Amino acid sequence: MRIEKATNLLPPVKRGKAVEIYVDGNPLIAYEGETIAAAMLAAGLRVFRHTPKTNSPRGIYCGMGVCFECLVTVDHVNAVRACMTQVYEGMHVETRAEWSL
Ligand code: FES
Repeated sequence: MRIEKATNLLPPVKRGKAVEIYVDGNPLIAYEGETIAAAMLAAGLRVFRHTPKTNSPRGIYCGMGVCFECLVTVDHVNAVRACMTQVYEGMHVETRAEWSL
């Protein structure tokens, strides 16, 4: 869920142009300027990958590119940090790709 207005003291939130991205093949609407992580969280998606050894779910932790917990595959490129990568029209994000660091 995205906020529309932070408080009564601030103007409404301005968003970029709506774009369609695909997460594990499922379309979702995001906005230019948002990160993959923001778009996925707004859609209620919390699991971004699973660890190779124990298959433990991982998601957003630091939200600023430091922890590498949010790695996804974007258009066949592995290990992309979702919290640092902005969406674009037609982007394909995979959270279930089989790879390890
Ligand atoms: S959430 Fe820590 S690097 Fe993305």
